[in-house]
Order: sequence, then structure tokens, then C-alpha cells
Amino acid sequence: MNAERGTETILITGASDGLGRAAALLLAERGYRVFAAGRSAEKRAQLDTLAKEKRLPLETLEMDVSDDRSVERAVAVVHQKTGQIDVLINNAGLAYFATVEDMNMEDWRRQFETNFFGVVRVTRAALGKMRERRSGRIIMISSVSGLVTPPAQGAYSVSKHAMEGLSNALRHELYPFRVKTILIEPGYIVTNIQQTAVELAQPYQEKIQKGAYAKVYRGCWAGANRSRAKSKTTPEDCARVILRAIEAPKPKARYAVTPLTTAIQWAKRLLPDSALDALIRRRYGVKREE
Ligand SMILES: NC(=O)c1ccc[n+]([C@@H]2O[C@H](COP(=O)([O-])OP(=O)(O)OC[C@H]3O[C@@H](n4cnc5c(N)ncnc54)[C@H](OP(=O)(O)O)[C@@H]3O)[C@@H](O)[C@H]2O)c1
Repeated sequence: MNAERGTETILITGASDGLGRAAALLLAERGYRVFAAGRSAEKRAQLDTLAKEKRLPLETLEMDVSDDRSVERAVAVVHQKTGQIDVLINNAGLAYFATVEDMNMEDWRRQFETNFFGVVRVTRAALGKMRERRSGRIIMISSVSGLVTPPAQGAYSVSKHAMEGLSNALRHELYPFRVKTILIEPGYIVTNIQQTAVELAQPYQEKIQKGAYAKVYRGCWAGANRSRAKSKTTPEDCARVILRAIEAPKPKARYAVTPLTTAIQWAKRLLPDSALDALIRRRYGVKREE
């Protein structure tokens, strides 16, 4: 796919902030017609203003991926304005921080409603026209947590593993129709996702401080902070990998973003589960109690 060839249309979910916003700006600078979807009216207005100042072919859209009608409406607007979506980027996501036992069922469902069912919902809405035209790319913003699972991030990690499975299914089902599904797997990149995770963890504060898993939470929090502090990868770096996946004549099934993901991809190939588990437990300070 190449923007110079015409006005290819890209729809990005969760593009009002973080990785999605950086990708929206880079792709519009590259000449694609970008529809940047998000919930926050304020953040969308800021992005619209920036796009206008820079004269970019970018407009924002209201879309809550957890709401059927909101998704149908937003996809219909893009189809109406352009006739097609050439590239769909499933990026909207958030992360809950709680152990499997502590996290309540409502939050499990919320985690999945955005990170997994949201992806299924938007993909299904956009897919039919891509299939009919025998062309299109679906970019899935997964995570290193779609490959391995840190403690206290089970729900988030499971949602990304589900996205990886969904992408595997789509790669096969859409093969006859030349529609390609590509996974992008970032490690730690500083964005608002961390602050949102802190807010979503508020109801679990007592358990985090004094519950049975207090030591696990402390280790996990410290490990995540260390990894974040070490990470030099920016949202713009991730955007460049997304661009590569969009423009590669023969894209790979998955692209690592950050050295951590590359290391984990290799570790998964080379190490037995027991060694990988030991590595993860050391990284997050998980020790057996006396
Ligand atoms: N940053 C990292 O370290 C990292 C690592 C691996 C993977 N990822 C993945 O990258 C993606 C983007 O994360 P980020 O780091 O850029 O986080 P972010 O800065 O918090 O941005 C998240 C975006 O998702 C949107 N969003 C959340 N819930 C939504 C919903 N129900 N409907 C529509 N939009 C929704 C937000 O839009 P509104 O605020 O407008 O609702 C926001 O634009 C996520 O899928 C995340 O799992 C991030």
C-alpha cells in the first residue's frame, strides 16, 4: 500500500492519544486520508486543531469501541465519505491491574469489552467491504503481553492473547480475499495507558496494599516501572513500525516494537516454559512464601 498512489483511507481506533495519535499524525503526514477515532471530545478537538494547523488530511470521529451503535455509526461515516477503508488499525485499549483472584467479574468483562470485543466489533463492521474489494489490511495493536503474561496483568494479557488468536484466524479466513491481518507487538512505551491503569486500579487499593497478593503487586509494580524507565522507544517509533507494516509489499504476520518484545519473541522460541517462567518471576520479584 502506498499513499502516493492515491488517497488510501485509514481508520484508527483510540487515536485521540498515545500510540494511536502518533500513528494518525505520521500516516496523515505521509499522505493517507486518516480518520482518527476516539471517545474524548476534548482530545479529538485538540487533534483536529493540530491537523488543521499542519494542513494534514486527518479528521477525527467519535467512536466508543465498546458500543455497537457507536462503531456502526463511525464506520458508516467513513464508508459514506470515502467509499472504503483500506487500512483498519485496531489500537484502542486499556489495562487493568489486579490479580486473577482479586479482579471482579465486572472489570474482567470491561477489560474484554474494549480490548477484545471492541476489536471484533470494529473489524466485523469494516471487513465486508474489504473482502468484496479483495484488498485491505487490518493492523492489530497487540503487546508483548500477547506473548507472555506478567503477574497482576492477567486480564490485560489474556485480552491480548485473544487478539493474537483472533488475528491467526483472520489470517487464514481472509487469505482467499487478499485481506491481510498484521500484529504489532510493542513492549513498554510511555503513554497515558499507565495513568489510566492507576485510575482503574483504585478499587483494588486495599487489596494491593494489604491483601494476600500485596508482595506480588509490589514486585509487579516495581518491575513494570523499571522496564518503563529503561524503555527508550517512543510512540513515534511505534508509528514508524505501523507504517512499515502498511507499506510492505509482503508484510510479516507480526512486528516487534521495542527490544523487550524482540527478546521475548526469541526467548519463546528457544526456552522451555519453566525457564521463561523463572525469568518472568525474577523480573517481577515473585518469590515462594515460607
Ligand atoms: N504504551 C504501551 O506501553 C503499550 C504497550 C503494548 C501495547 N500497547 C497497546 O497500544 C494501544 C494504545 O495504547 P496507548 O499506550 O497509546 O494508551 P493511551 O495513551 O491510554 O491511549 C489509549 C487510547 O484508547 C482509547 N480508548 C480507550 N477505551 C476506548 C473505547 N472504549 N473506545 C474507543 N477508544 C478507547 C483512548 O481514547 P479516549 O481517551 O478518547 O477514550 C485513547 O485514545 C492499546 O491497545 C495498548 O494495549 C501499549
